[in-house]
Amino acid sequence: MVSGDRGAHWDAAYRGRGSEGVSWYQSSPTISIELIDDLSPPRETAVVDVGGGASRLIDVLLDEGFSDVSVVDVSDVALAEVGRRVGPTAASLIHADLLAWTPTRRYGLWHDRAVLHFLVDPAERNRYVEVLHLALKPGGYVVVGVFAFDGPERCSGLPVVRYSADALSELLGADFEVVAHRREEHVTPTGAIQPFTWLTARLCMQPRIPLRAAADPHDATEG
Ligand SMILES: C[S@@+](CC[C@H](N)C(=O)[O-])C[C@H]1O[C@@H](n2cnc3c(N)ncnc32)[C@H](O)[C@@H]1O
Repeated sequence: MVSGDRGAHWDAAYRGRGSEGVSWYQSSPTISIELIDDLSPPRETAVVDVGGGASRLIDVLLDEGFSDVSVVDVSDVALAEVGRRVGPTAASLIHADLLAWTPTRRYGLWHDRAVLHFLVDPAERNRYVEVLHLALKPGGYVVVGVFAFDGPERCSGLPVVRYSADALSELLGADFEVVAHRREEHVTPTGAIQPFTWLTARLCMQPRIPLRAAADPHDATEG
């Protein structure tokens, strides 16, 4: 799927069912917050929620005192809703297709719930890992949640790839050290159970894949 089609697809999903009617809706992003809190990140850590959509994660992070939060999403409809909820300047709302996105700074924490699993083309998965390397500081963390091996085969009308923790770790590559993994059974608004695999990993201090993103003025100051 190309970027324009992706945006239209996800805009239609949010418009059609409303952000609280979509299958991935959570009133509270409990597992994400638990995994992030386990890392005890300093509140000035730059956090990016990729494919964050209309998720409440950003609201909770702001409530917890995080001062530098960003959402990257291909859906204008979802980002507009986040902007209405948290205010236009509380978070950086980046309208972009993740696979075409060139980060202009680096983050200390990358969060992804239910985006990576839509990348069924190996070239798209390689690009995802490349963007992850461009966006993350050495020593930074990635928290990713994807459908588990026994999870759904499709979501929002699209095919998905399902993962074990080992498969997810293998995809991230040898530059990432696994910190934790968990299983979750997400209950959709219609009561269906969707098993997820969650993985937290840390990018090593000297990644083999060179960092090519523009120089980040925050590099010297963020945890
Ligand atoms: C299943 S939803 C999950 C949303 C959010 N992470 C959550 O947990 O509520 C997938 C999200 O990823 C976004 N998305 C899908 N493909 C994307 C891409 N290539 N680049 C940026 N966003 C993407 C969609 O717009 C949608 O908001």
